[in-house]
Amino acid sequence: MSPAGAGRRPLISGNWKMNLDHLEAIHAARDLGLRLQPADVAPVDVSVHPPFTDIRSVQSVLEGEGIPVALGAQNCAVEDSGAFTGEVSPVMLAKLHVEYVIVGHSERRAHFAETDAVVASKLRAVLRNGMAPICCVGETVDERDIGLTQERLTAQVTAALTGLPAEDVAAMVVAYEPVWAIGTGQAATPEDAQEACAWIRGVVAQVAGEEPATQVRIQYGGSVKADNTASLMACTDVDGLLVGGASLDAAQFTDIVRAASRGGR
Ligand code: 13P
Repeated sequence: MSPAGAGRRPLISGNWKMNLDHLEAIHAARDLGLRLQPADVAPVDVSVHPPFTDIRSVQSVLEGEGIPVALGAQNCAVEDSGAFTGEVSPVMLAKLHVEYVIVGHSERRAHFAETDAVVASKLRAVLRNGMAPICCVGETVDERDIGLTQERLTAQVTAALTGLPAEDVAAMVVAYEPVWAIGTGQAATPEDAQEACAWIRGVVAQVAGEEPATQVRIQYGGSVKADNTASLMACTDVDGLLVGGASLDAAQFTDIVRAASRGGR
């Protein structure tokens, strides 16, 4: 529905999940900084999303060593401050120069009972604090098997975006992460990823308008590796990748960034 890429700058994000303590994270960030060359990041944006306890350390490495990688988080609280024991405020993340916050990852929806309503509130908390949400959507294998993929994506995207100003939608990121592809080694085919991402863009157009739908970046996530990066990035409506396991290894993640930056987008 949109011309190839439509000027959208790809975003390659590494979601470290609950891996790497702060010392390992410092090492990983340094390693990435040594490997990534200016040419690798000239055509793409790159972000890393460490656990909360690592964020300050990784910030120091990225900023101190001038590494051209944006800082991200994996989650945040709905509220800015207050009596919410154990939560981490989006204000605190913004203060550490976090630029992107993942919201509604399927692991949080499944294991921490995050509903569409909670995801919508977190998305607004991130935007309110000047950061870009990466809003994850995607169907389970059961939903896919009974042909409910599009219905599920429509419901999740509509619940997350309804009522948001067009400029906020244009500035955010949606990640299509089919649950059956996460951590399984079984990535979606480029055809399936393209179909789902184009569908998501269509839903964004219905909910927020054509203009923001052309601008919003849509990532694919689920068993991304260096060897499937180019084919996924060649898809018209895939504007980047959300990488789990392969982002923990700086060499593998660099190979993914490189393959994406050579993708001709
Ligand atoms: P894997 O790349 O390990 O499949 O994880 C994908 C993911 O969940 C990223 O958020």
